[in-house]
Amino acid sequence: MRMRRKRNLLPRLEALQELLLVSGRPMLNLKEAAQNYRAVIDYEACFQRTAPVEVEIGCGNGGFILEKAKREPSVDFFAVEISSNVILAAMEKVKREQLKNVRFLNIPAEILPCYLPEESVETIYLNFSTPLPEKSREKQRLTSSRFLGIYQQLLKSGGKIVQKTDSEGFFDYSLARFEENGFKIESVTRDLVNSEFAKDNIVTEYEQSFLSKGQKIFRAVARKKEQGEN
Ligand SMILES: C[S@@+](CC[C@H](N)C(=O)[O-])C[C@H]1O[C@@H](n2cnc3c(N)ncnc32)[C@H](O)[C@@H]1O
Repeated sequence: MRMRRKRNLLPRLEALQELLLVSGRPMLNLKEAAQNYRAVIDYEACFQRTAPVEVEIGCGNGGFILEKAKREPSVDFFAVEISSNVILAAMEKVKREQLKNVRFLNIPAEILPCYLPEESVETIYLNFSTPLPEKSREKQRLTSSRFLGIYQQLLKSGGKIVQKTDSEGFFDYSLARFEENGFKIESVTRDLVNSEFAKDNIVTEYEQSFLSKGQKIFRAVARKKEQGEN
């Protein structure tokens, strides 16, 4: 079901311009987005400091990025979300909490290399990305080989992808793609709630809804291999 467009979407996005680095236009398609291209972001100018950079792709309503940025004030975060309608809620939360270490990119993740410098990111978080089981939509899955090529470009050597999902099929698909695309799988958890990772886990909005239905949560960490590593 398509979400109804939020009231006063554009003025509300404009009021948060200091947090939103790219777009602000609803329903941007890939071609438009590429034409909208401005410049690779200068992290130091953006955050007024030098700090490790981490990225969440598909931030949704922003519960994860808000809590993560609060817990880790010495890290700078980019939250990427294709939907203007959805990113607005996340931005309003960050503004309310006056967090200085989060910026938003309202773009499809496909064009991230237009904005983030090569080999500049420590960690990419993929929280409950849509599994898209239809074969015809494989390329759009956020752990397809196409996307992993993009993450290879963005991540520093040794940088990590942290994935959580409720879908076992999508999880197994992702593990196979990580191994095929230059990542070493560092940890695999098939029941997050009953694992050593539960203590520090930040529960996202989608995760909460899956947990309330008693579903298991799957989690993996995949590290970009160093040069020459097998
Ligand atoms: C299932 S929701 C999960 C939201 C949130 N991470 C959570 O766990 O509650 C997936 C989100 O990813 C966004 N998304 C899907 N494909 C994307 C893409 N190619 N680039 C950026 N965001 C994308 C969707 O708009 C949606 O908000």
